[in-house]
Amino acid sequence: KTGLFTYDPGFLATASCESKITFIDGDLGQLYYRGYPIEQLAEHSDFLEACYLLLNGELPNAKEKADFDYMVMRHNMLHDQILSFYKGFRRDAHPMAVMVGVVGALSAFYHDSLDINDPHHREVSAFRLIAKVPTIAAQAYRYNKGLPFSYPKGGLSYAENFLHMMFSTPVTEYKVNPVLAKALDRIFILHADHEQNASTSTVRLAGSSGANPFACIAAGIACLWGPSHGGANEAVLKMLAEIGDESKIGEFIQGVKDKRFKLMGFGHRVYKNMDPRAEIMRRTCHEVLTELGLQDDPKFKLAMKLEEIALNDPYFVERKLYPNVDFYSGIVLSAIGIPVSMFTPIFALSRTVGWISHWTEMIADPTMKIGRPRQLYTGSPRRDYVPLDERK
Ligand code: SDX
Repeated sequence: KTGLFTYDPGFLATASCESKITFIDGDLGQLYYRGYPIEQLAEHSDFLEACYLLLNGELPNAKEKADFDYMVMRHNMLHDQILSFYKGFRRDAHPMAVMVGVVGALSAFYHDSLDINDPHHREVSAFRLIAKVPTIAAQAYRYNKGLPFSYPKGGLSYAENFLHMMFSTPVTEYKVNPVLAKALDRIFILHADHEQNASTSTVRLAGSSGANPFACIAAGIACLWGPSHGGANEAVLKMLAEIGDESKIGEFIQGVKDKRFKLMGFGHRVYKNMDPRAEIMRRTCHEVLTELGLQDDPKFKLAMKLEEIALNDPYFVERKLYPNVDFYSGIVLSAIGIPVSMFTPIFALSRTVGWISHWTEMIADPTMKIGRPRQLYTGSPRRDYVPLDERK
C-alpha cells in the first residue's frame, strides 16, 4: 500500500521507478496530479497553478502563485541569437523538428552555467523551459508561415500569450477570446503530465546519465513526435478527413477490424476504461464549438458518431478500447484556429512541466543510478571469425 493507492504484487514487479507526481488508475479511468483528481484541476485550476503543483507537490497560496507566475513571465523571452537557429531550417520543416533542435540548442546558452546538483539551478532550468517553450513553439509556426518573429506580452495569461505570439502581427493585434483561451489553458492542464509514458521515460533515461535538462527535454520532444504517442491528435484529424462523412464509418470500422489501420485517438497502454481527459475534452469541444456557433461542425459530429459506434461495437469493447486524450483535442485546437502542424508542439509545450518535474524528482534522489534496462539475448550462439576469402 503506497499513498492513496494500493498495488498488487504482480504490478510492483513491472514498475520501472517510484514517483510522487502522478497516479493513473487504468481500470477505473482515473488520473491524479499529486493526489488531486484531474477533473477538479481542469475545472478550478489554471495551467501555471498546475505547473506549480506538479513541480512542488502542493497547491500554491496567493503569494506563491503570484511569484511563480512572475518568474515564468520573466523567463519567456528568447535570446535573440536563438532566433538564428530557426533560419537553418527549411521553411516547411515540421514544427516538432524545429522544437527538438531549438530546445536542444538552449543547452548551448545555459549548459555551462548549470550545476544540476544545485537545487536553485534546477529551479531556474524549470522556469526557463516552462516559460520558453510556448515562445519557441510559436516562432516555429511563424517561421513556417514566413511571418516576422513575435514576442510575449506582459499582462496576458500563459495561454493568451501563446495565442498572441502565434497570431498577432505588427499590423493586427490578435483579439483573445477568453472562452478559447480558457479551453487552451485546460488543454495544457490535461496534457501536463501522465506518469511514465514513453516521452517521460525517455526524459528520465536521458537525465539518469547526468545530461543537462535542455538536452533531456529535447529527447522527450523527439519521442512525443511519434503518431502512437503525441502525434495522435494530428492523426485523428487526418483520419476524420479520410472518413469524410457518417455514411463511410461502417467501411472504415471494417478496415480497422481487418487490421489495415488503427482507430486513432482510441486505445491506451494503461487506460482500459475511458481516459478521464477524453471526457473533459469532449465537454470542452462542445463549449468551444457552441461559443463559435459551430455546434454542427461536421468533424465534431463525425467524431461523436464514430465514438458512439465504436463504444457499442464488440470488437472495441472486448479489447477495452476507449477514446483517449487525443480523440477530441485536435477538433478543439482546429476550432480555435490552430493548424494541425501545431497540435503536437502544443502537446510538447504542455508536457514540458511533466518532463521537468520527473527529471527534477529523479535528479534530487540521492539513490538515483543511471538507467540501464537489461535484455533477453536471442541472437547467434558463440562462433569464430571466418576470413573474407573463406566466406561463400
Ligand atoms: C498518448 O502512455 C501514455 O500515457 C500516453 C499518453 C500521454 O498522455 O502521455 O496518454 C498520450 O500517447 C495517448 C495514445 C495516443 N495514441 C493513439 O491514439 C494512437 C492509436 N492508439 C494505438 O496506437 C494504441 O491504442 C496504443 C499505442 C495507444 C496502445 O497500444 P497497445 O498497448 O498495443 O494496445 P492494447 O494492448 O490495448 O491492444 C489490444 C488490442 C490489440 O489487438 P489484438 O492483437 O488483441 O487483436 O487492441 C488493438 C491492438 O492491436 N488496438 C487497436 C487500437 N489500439 C489497440 N485497434 C484499433 N485501433 C486502435 N487505436
